[in-house]
Amino acid sequence: LGRADLLVRRAQQVVTLRGWSERPVAGSPEPGWLGLVEDGAVACRGDRIVAVGRTGEVERQVSWDRETVVVDAQGHALLPGLVDPHTHAVYAGDRAEEWGRLLRGEPYLRILQSGGGIWQTVRRTREASTEDLVSGMAERLRRMMRAGATTIEVKSGYALEPEGELRLLDAIAAAAELVPVQVVPTFLGAHAVPPEYRSDPEAYVDLVEQVMLPAAARRPGLARFCDVFCEEGAFTPDHARRILSRAARLGLGLKVHADQFHPLGGARLAAEMGATSADHLDFTPREDLERLAASGTVAVLLPGAHLFTRSRALPDVEGMRYHRVPVALASDHNPGTSPVESMALVAALGCTVLGLTPEESVAGCTINAAHALALGHEVGSLEVGKRADFILVAGPSYLHLPYRMGADGAVWMVVAAGRIVS
Ligand code: NIG
Ligand code: FE
Repeated sequence: LGRADLLVRRAQQVVTLRGWSERPVAGSPEPGWLGLVEDGAVACRGDRIVAVGRTGEVERQVSWDRETVVVDAQGHALLPGLVDPHTHAVYAGDRAEEWGRLLRGEPYLRILQSGGGIWQTVRRTREASTEDLVSGMAERLRRMMRAGATTIEVKSGYALEPEGELRLLDAIAAAAELVPVQVVPTFLGAHAVPPEYRSDPEAYVDLVEQVMLPAAARRPGLARFCDVFCEEGAFTPDHARRILSRAARLGLGLKVHADQFHPLGGARLAAEMGATSADHLDFTPREDLERLAASGTVAVLLPGAHLFTRSRALPDVEGMRYHRVPVALASDHNPGTSPVESMALVAALGCTVLGLTPEESVAGCTINAAHALALGHEVGSLEVGKRADFILVAGPSYLHLPYRMGADGAVWMVVAAGRIVS
């Protein structure tokens, strides 16, 4: 197989998740589904994995020389780089003030309706310079990376006007250049109805569908997905259907913020549209979970948002197991409902808040999260030919990822595209 640029050897345990590139893990995985290798190694050349398996086998397959970086991983478990498939990481300002109001009893949607919430962040973001938006986002990406994420989705959605949303997508691309993680951009022009369209939300939906979306889709790579916040006080399922139909025709993948505060039919719509993912799902009824399973849509659960907003309903994880809906986890990083930046913490919250097993949590942060971005062939598992993205955790088994509750140092080393980056 030739020479390796990087060889990580003698990991106590390697979680390969091999065999899941074509389809996500559904139902409750047993430890055996994780493709565990004891005393394992990974060899990389350039940004690709060239060998993975028992240390002895890998060392027989590749050669190395004085240029090769060799890491002895004794005492550590090695996992695929974590994938964060849902963030709103480009914005200015914070919402600590409003969180105080929320904790004193004011509901999130009422704060939004009174001109705060997403609106507050939109005002600050519109006023911010592009340089500040880019550097703020790059800082967040670096912290996310140090906590284990090597692929991160980022949504626009805090400008809500044609030029401004494009400026955010450009800022996402610029920040992505500064940090060695893979960034997946999503257009979320339908995040809230701007006050200037309060009396005529249909006109804003027209603007999104007819002006903003085509502009976002015109430049290749500017946006890979289109998402809609389907919620009372935001966009109805009919609005979302119009926007997502156009997005599909323009070649974008589809995502839906579905049933976060009310059972509005967002998950059902995601299934009907064949969306790549349906996210949140706190209020999704069981029959709609069955629809998600049938359409192959990944459920992206956001325990950080759940915990931070003190939401009463929990996503029906038991129903997802029963109907075999693949479950992924994400940080939902944003200033209003989830300031969480650490996928290592999200892995823990998946277990403690949502009741996932450690195996579900590990699959949810890796291969299933990759499928939630239509990147199952590229990242999320450790197989020859895939991107060389992996982490070493501060403990001898995958259990130590959720077990550390996001503590500093829980992720001991991060390798992105074949390079040690943290
Ligand atoms: O995923 N719910 C809509 N969007 C975000 C919140 C954005 C915000 O409050 O600024 C979410 O929770
Ligand atoms: Fe969100």
